Amino acid sequence: MIKAAITSIAGFLPDNIVTNADLEKIIDTSDEWITSRTGIKQRHLENNPERGTSDMCVEAVKLLCKKRGISPEEIDLLICGTVTPDLVFPSTSNLICAKIGAKNAWGFDLSAACSGFLYALSTGSQFIETGRYKKVVIVGADMMSRIIDYTDRTTCVIFGDGAGAVLLEPTTEDLGIIDFELHADGNGVEHLHMKAGGSLRPASHETVDNKMHFVYQEGQSVFKHAVYSMAEVSANIMKKNNLQAEDIQWLAAHQANKRIIDATANRMGIGAEKVMMNIENYGNTTAGTIPLLLWDYEKQLKKGDNIILSAFGGGYTWGAVYLKWAYDGSQIV
Ligand code: UT7
Repeated sequence: MIKAAITSIAGFLPDNIVTNADLEKIIDTSDEWITSRTGIKQRHLENNPERGTSDMCVEAVKLLCKKRGISPEEIDLLICGTVTPDLVFPSTSNLICAKIGAKNAWGFDLSAACSGFLYALSTGSQFIETGRYKKVVIVGADMMSRIIDYTDRTTCVIFGDGAGAVLLEPTTEDLGIIDFELHADGNGVEHLHMKAGGSLRPASHETVDNKMHFVYQEGQSVFKHAVYSMAEVSANIMKKNNLQAEDIQWLAAHQANKRIIDATANRMGIGAEKVMMNIENYGNTTAGTIPLLLWDYEKQLKKGDNIILSAFGGGYTWGAVYLKWAYDGSQIV
């Protein structure tokens, strides 16, 4: 049976770093509050208005291809999980393919907020498993700074910009994506959304004046749902696959809040040494967090490692993926 294995990984972060101390200068907040409530110390924010999400993805996908020694022309399909597309249309995926010369690929954007990468990874894996495609690129990327109100201290301290990409290829070994469990509940719209800019409320003077093009989040409600759902779905996928805590080498959980990640690890019964964490450096990059985690930890990953990916985000959307890592990361230059 064919499985879809991650065979290369890369990421990109804009150069401009904004620390908690920098934010203290523009809003009523403190490094102490941000660190203790979220675990975040700094985030990368794109400060060039000429660059959009696709530009971050281009850097990540170029590096991905270079690491694997393939040409962009070999890519069959590129799926981009994002809620900050360059434009409403055409898709960010199309723009990325054009910019990197992936002229034999087709693709689409997938909107699932913080679960965007997991939704896209699960979707892309199906095209490999059926035998239809040999090279599928999955990108998770968001330029959150473009939809954040930097006078709203409840949201602006949390988010960052970043992109991560993985290459999926077929394997007949017992490696790659073994299982996934995805969920959605549109009733969550109430607590986390952007009020305008779509067909319901297109941009107008009124929507701009009322700051309706920014992220609206009721933090505590989202927090409660995230803690419960991310822990539940991660425990479920372990149970379905007969995995005990000691069978798992790594948890790569969406980096929204260190407290949510700790709660998930607790429920799974795994220790902090198995929990990938980079929220302190990047903040919440929405669809970017999980591929950026895998990229940061690549050198430590060994062939056959059991990894649980887990996310919760706007929609609501949530889910978990169980995969067996397909190569020794220490051998990658
Ligand atoms: O990735 C997509 C999904 N999103 C998430 O998973 C986010 C989930 N939510 C959270 O991570 C947390 O709810 C937040 C980090 C957003 C907020 O943390 P919290 O512990 O839930 O704080 P809170 O909203 O209950 O606010 C507590 C206090 C309030 O002051 P009062 O009313 O107690 O006087 C806030 O006004 O903290 C205040 N506050 C701040 N203080 C300093 C809120 N933001 C800030 C801030 N700096 N940046």
